[in-house]
Amino acid sequence: MVRMKRVLAGLALSASMIAGVASSQTATEIPRIVTKGGRHALIVDGAPFLMLGAQVNNSSNYAAALPQVWPMLDRIHANTVEIPIAWQQVEPVEGKFDLSFLQTLLDQARAHDKRVVLLWFGTWKNTSPGYTPDWFKADNRRFPRMKAKDGTDHYVHSPMFRATLEADKRAFVEVMRYLKAHDPQNTVIMVQPENEVGSYRSPRDYGAQANAVFAKPVPTELAKALKKPGGSWTQMFGAQADRAFNTWHTARFVDEIAAAGKAIKPLPMYVNASLAGPSNVPDPTGVASGGPQQDVLDIWKAAAPAIDFQAPDIYDRDAAHVALYLDAYARPDNALMVPEIGNAKEFARFFWAALGRGAIGYAPFGMDDTGYFNYPLGAKALDGETLDAIGLKYGALATMGRDWAKIAFEHPTWGTAKPEDGAGQTTTMGDWTIATSYGEWQFGQKDWTWIKSEPPTWAKEAVGGVAVAQLSPNEFLVVGDHVRLNFGTAKDGPKNGSVFRVEEGRVVDGRWVMSRIWNGDQTDYGINLITPVILKVTMGSYK
Ligand code: DGJ
Repeated sequence: MVRMKRVLAGLALSASMIAGVASSQTATEIPRIVTKGGRHALIVDGAPFLMLGAQVNNSSNYAAALPQVWPMLDRIHANTVEIPIAWQQVEPVEGKFDLSFLQTLLDQARAHDKRVVLLWFGTWKNTSPGYTPDWFKADNRRFPRMKAKDGTDHYVHSPMFRATLEADKRAFVEVMRYLKAHDPQNTVIMVQPENEVGSYRSPRDYGAQANAVFAKPVPTELAKALKKPGGSWTQMFGAQADRAFNTWHTARFVDEIAAAGKAIKPLPMYVNASLAGPSNVPDPTGVASGGPQQDVLDIWKAAAPAIDFQAPDIYDRDAAHVALYLDAYARPDNALMVPEIGNAKEFARFFWAALGRGAIGYAPFGMDDTGYFNYPLGAKALDGETLDAIGLKYGALATMGRDWAKIAFEHPTWGTAKPEDGAGQTTTMGDWTIATSYGEWQFGQKDWTWIKSEPPTWAKEAVGGVAVAQLSPNEFLVVGDHVRLNFGTAKDGPKNGSVFRVEEGRVVDGRWVMSRIWNGDQTDYGINLITPVILKVTMGSYK
């Protein structure tokens, strides 16, 4: 969504309000998402920001767990923590709000120089009401669960009831009010209302009230947004009708909560999807029906204008599937952000694939030292090698995250990761081609027969990838690891083109600062990146 014209609402915080809060910090511009020419940036403190994030485990939303969070973030060079705040901890007694955890979180995040993405665990957390207060869980009359087709109560709350929406919204608004009053420096940069919304096994509420709404035509604004003539849910969506219905109503529900929160403090807000598998036609009873999976993004866009973007939670280790998900969510009308991805070593290479698609942020899940591991989704343990897999990548970008974010907002980018079969990939950027290959030593060629070599240890591992930004027609910023790059001339590119110069260095405040030129062995066998390194490659030609 284009936000270029948004007023700098943060500046509107008056001096007296700021003086009234505990912090002596001055107000800064409220973070926002900007979109231009189909590319996106997350603006924090007035400039593009790359969220090198990490999400904590589900029960780390207490002061007692925070000491196990910060060292882990430092260890992997993360600049942002994604962390839940649960309805059950905010409103344990109806109407009585306790925001003490939020204040502790703000204080500690500031002390540890981290930004925060706040995850509102409300009516839906992985679809279930687990994080709702006991008084809410207990009152199925006021806050009804969905009815399954056989008339029994389903475990998920129905999005069709006003009382549920109002109760959730009231608590969420309290959180946003607290942020407005106590976070003028915008330590919290984004908010995720709810978590993995939807319903497993029963695609929608089949209760009497929901059935009556289902019998009505599809809302005209939805039909219009989808450029369809309208009609019943079944006419418009066929076998996915029940799911489309629940998607619309769930998205409307979340939109109202987000809009109410934004009316207090307009932070960027996004929703995360429990993905349906790579198939674009998921089984409505197998998927979290109602969630923002890739095939229903247009329903979400129409239903939830207050949501800045939809985002994929990636626990699929297959590189082809991951590429498919990233492509589905990186749209001109949807900023790509990966709010959750497995924390096992082999997922880390997908950071490059996401960056190259213009991702504004990325966060492995389960990044704290509380001793919990969500294997087989993620890692069995966070040993040094596993932490380095993401930590060295974040480390390479840590000091130039803002520069990368600005470059990626303004220039073409490409990124890829080693596929399952280890085959190389090729892309064309303007006059030039870039080919990757994996499992290579830094020196020599795999097919040499005159001297024998065994493959490097990483040849068998799921490591390797690269992100590239085209700075000008002949200049490329390159960052990656465990990959060999060969630059070549595109079909219609200049005659006699070649690599003129490979520089190692980094971007400092928008300026390339070279530390050395790579030449000789360092470039004779392709450009070999093993530990993450930042290069500028300049192409040229002669007549
Ligand atoms: C996705 C959810 O969004 C997370 O909160 C967590 O439950 C993971 N799945 C599994 O660890």
